[in-house]
Amino acid sequence: MVLRVDGLEVRYGKLHALRGASLSVAPGETVGVIGETGSGKSTLARAVLGLVPASAGQIVVDGTDVTGLNTRQWRAFRRRGVVQYVFQDPLRSLDPDLTIASSLTEPLRIQGVSFAEAASRARELLKRVSLGPELLDRLPGELSGGQRQRVAVARALIVEPRLVLLDEPVSALDSSNRVRVLELLKQLRDAGTSLLFISHDLGSVAGVADRVAVLYRGEIVEQGPVRDVISRPTHPYTKLLVGSAPTLRSAAADRAARASLRALLTSEGAVS
Ligand SMILES: Nc1ncnc2c1ncn2[C@@H]1O[C@H](COP(=O)(O)OP(=O)(O)O)[C@@H](O)[C@H]1O
Ligand SMILES: [Mg+2]
Repeated sequence: MVLRVDGLEVRYGKLHALRGASLSVAPGETVGVIGETGSGKSTLARAVLGLVPASAGQIVVDGTDVTGLNTRQWRAFRRRGVVQYVFQDPLRSLDPDLTIASSLTEPLRIQGVSFAEAASRARELLKRVSLGPELLDRLPGELSGGQRQRVAVARALIVEPRLVLLDEPVSALDSSNRVRVLELLKQLRDAGTSLLFISHDLGSVAGVADRVAVLYRGEIVEQGPVRDVISRPTHPYTKLLVGSAPTLRSAAADRAARASLRALLTSEGAVS
């Protein structure tokens, strides 16, 4: 497993933000985490990045138990680039004072990669997210929101991480940029990158994730293959989510109808 979260509890003072959440991400797998605002999604991401401490449970990233790491150990672990992240607001994932070139090359430079090598990787990665090299000398503030988010994805990928955490990566984008970034995430998934894709929007996650976990008030109340969760939700909150996304439901219903028609035709074929 690239990520294993077991019985994770996180408290902010008296508030119990996560109450025993468990989930895992296998190599090459894309797992979606959906839940309403305040359900603990970002807390989960922060805990995996070592930005908030766990009060109980265990987090294992690519074989390393990171649950009890101190600040110094976390810094060393982060530098290895095993986990990278993309947040909702690219201005939080990118330093506003660094050019795109510096933002992209920094994680490699920290690892001791030469300037020339890092610069050539930066160009490569920009191309991979469908952006041109003319952006290299610009500042994040000079890019559109969609371009910035694609740069944030490129920066996350440049160190070839084992896992990329994406917390609401398309929520701040307009619909055309949202579609483009979702397409990019699908490409990453197909190329075998392990993704943990957090979103309040089932529709965004459904097209990209292999499996989905539903977070409700700090607990994972349901998880499974996307198709199963959409066509046969078991928890009342998931039913509500699926019910309020009619296009998803009808797509699942269409699939089910086609499958039963196929079964019917095949059995008739067998009779004649
Ligand atoms: N730094 C914090 N201090 C106190 N409470 C927090 C903090 N961050 C989040 N919370 C609370 O924890 C709960 C979960 O928040 P969060 O993980 O951000 O949820 P989500 O990302 O699903 O919207 C919410 O009730 C939120 O108000
Ligand atoms: Mg959040």
